Amino acid sequence: MRTYGYTDTLDAEHYARALRADIRDGLTRTPKSTAPTWFYDARGSELFEEITQLKEYPLWRAELGLFQLHALDIAERTRARSLVELGSGSSTKTKLILEALGPAGLHYVPVDVSEDALHQAGAQLAQEYPGLVLHALRADFTAPLILPELPSDEPRLLAFIGSTLGNFRRPARVPFLRRLRSIMRPEDFLLLGADLVKDTEEMIAAYDDGEGVTAAFDKNLLYVLNRELDADFAPDAFEHRAVWNSEEQHIEMRLRSLAAQDVEIRRLGLTVHFDRDEEWITERSAKFTTDGLRAELAAAGLKIDQMWTDPDADFAVVLAAAP
Ligand code: SAH
Ligand code: AVI
Repeated sequence: MRTYGYTDTLDAEHYARALRADIRDGLTRTPKSTAPTWFYDARGSELFEEITQLKEYPLWRAELGLFQLHALDIAERTRARSLVELGSGSSTKTKLILEALGPAGLHYVPVDVSEDALHQAGAQLAQEYPGLVLHALRADFTAPLILPELPSDEPRLLAFIGSTLGNFRRPARVPFLRRLRSIMRPEDFLLLGADLVKDTEEMIAAYDDGEGVTAAFDKNLLYVLNRELDADFAPDAFEHRAVWNSEEQHIEMRLRSLAAQDVEIRRLGLTVHFDRDEEWITERSAKFTTDGLRAELAAAGLKIDQMWTDPDADFAVVLAAAP
């Protein structure tokens, strides 16, 4: 029995339509390039959790460390009694924020496309924090958000952590932030986590670990497409790669076709040709500078109130608000 509120705004038809449109568009352009949203079925969410524990993927731990140090500062500054988190996944790091804000009577709205991630996190949070007013929302954060009812007279904190902002391409980031800004009232804050530009080898290793977990995460997309679109991708016919694009300042995860091949995507009525060694960009993960972040937030009508970085300046946590 579910012991918390749950709203699914992504009916099967909406999800399927968005998936079909993105895959048709992405696999018929040059270079082939699709949205990272489709990685996160049950297996994909599980693989992402494994990624967070890899020694090569320090960004997750860096943000956790910053929350350990500054969750109380965040709570004191924001005095938030509602927390809405986009792309919440397992909500593991968020617990530090929930605890600092005081979970009894706090409204928490985790928002994610992954039903499995929401259910797992929801069940655990409901058990751990019986006083938390929990309302999980399955929604696509690239579309306008329809939030459940929240107390109107108390400050809200909107959270977008884990550097998931980096999975948007540069031209899409400011409009996205502007949309967040449009649902913020003068007393509300935005909590943003952003991975910073660092040594190139380090950044590449974070997306191409020695155990092959990230490769499995990348190839999970092929299993999702085989199942959801009745496609016949052979995962062994592709190889995972991670490449630093210095012009765009992002890591590209790519699937390289190991042979010339035609793949049938029956539900799209589409046959997609891959040349040998052709590379399909499956995810972009931008890395930021603190000045760049400040400028993007300013362009969206937001001002940095506080910013914390780890001692190596590898990761930044920002609290922003309307100026
Ligand atoms: N914030 C967590 C999880 C990051 S993984 C952390 O820092 O550990 C990114 C999360 O965003 C996944 O749980 C994924 O399911 C979700 N996600 C990806 N694209 C999404 C979209 N378009 N709308 C809503 N959630 C999305
Ligand atoms: C969720 N997102 C910020 C992760 C990232 O680092 O871009 C997803 C990920 N892809 C490969 N490893 C982790």
